[in-house]
Amino acid sequence: MEFNSRAAHTPVLLNEVIGMLEVRENGVYVDATVGLGGHASAILKRIGRDGELIGIDRDEEALSHAAERLGNGRVHLNKGSFSEIGEIVSGLGKQKVDGVLFDLGVSMLQLKEHDRGFSFMSDSRLDMRMDPSQKLSAWEVVNRYQEKDLQLILKEFGEEPLFRKIAKRIATARQSAPINTCAELAELVLQAYGGRGRTHPATRTFQALRIEVNKELEELRAGLSTALGILKIGGRMCVIAYHSLEDRIVKNTFRDLSRAGDVRLLTKKPVVPAREEVLSNPASRSAKLRGIEKI
Ligand SMILES: C[S@@+](CC[C@H](N)C(=O)[O-])C[C@H]1O[C@@H](n2cnc3c(N)ncnc32)[C@H](O)[C@@H]1O
Repeated sequence: MEFNSRAAHTPVLLNEVIGMLEVRENGVYVDATVGLGGHASAILKRIGRDGELIGIDRDEEALSHAAERLGNGRVHLNKGSFSEIGEIVSGLGKQKVDGVLFDLGVSMLQLKEHDRGFSFMSDSRLDMRMDPSQKLSAWEVVNRYQEKDLQLILKEFGEEPLFRKIAKRIATARQSAPINTCAELAELVLQAYGGRGRTHPATRTFQALRIEVNKELEELRAGLSTALGILKIGGRMCVIAYHSLEDRIVKNTFRDLSRAGDVRLLTKKPVVPAREEVLSNPASRSAKLRGIEKI
């Protein structure tokens, strides 16, 4: 069945993001995680005929869905990662922009397309690359990293209490044959836990691998700092994070910038989805939105 990007992706905290960005007519905005174009299409509607939207994603497949949905003269879609935002914007002849949005994490396209290997419920090969042209995949991490490096990743990026036990199981299992699929890895984690509770115990292991494969935390730090550099005075940056490691980086970076007098905080506490949104779109349940204005 063909993937239907409109049906499959409901943008998270959409009204809150649009309100916080104060999207204005004729403005220039960067959607650094354009994904399937949900937030981008709402921004486009508000910037009028003379506004411009620069949409960035490291996933080429997402960009082609976004192009289908957004395609017209006011949109510039670019393949790239957060660390390349500055070059992309200056390559388009722009110095400063009115707003930047980051909606972190993976898209429904990446999660639901089973051959992308993100989901512990899938039988596909361990992969998890947001950019499939990148070399490092989850398969390499699971089958080639030393046990002590696996421990570190599980502990730091998964906040996994059984990091030693799971790393040991992986190291032992791969001695007889490589661990090829998401389901095989999920089963090893399940064994380490001796069964499952309300959430599948492999959730933390899969989060850790995804962060390592896509260098998500380094990317986020680089992205926040570059985005601040390209914002006009009075320009706004909004970030939606989906897990505590990301949110902590956003919170601390914004706090430090505010203390240094570079920005005004738009959110003392993060904005979270209302109950109705969580009920209609469970993928929004862990979302936390924070924003700043450059001063
Ligand atoms: C949650 S989705 C965005 C969905 C989008 N807001 C929408 O409404 O359709 C996150 C997207 O960000 C992209 N992404 C994540 N980290 C990235 C990075 N460091 N550089 C560029 N794109 C990234 C992913 O490939 C994914 O398509």
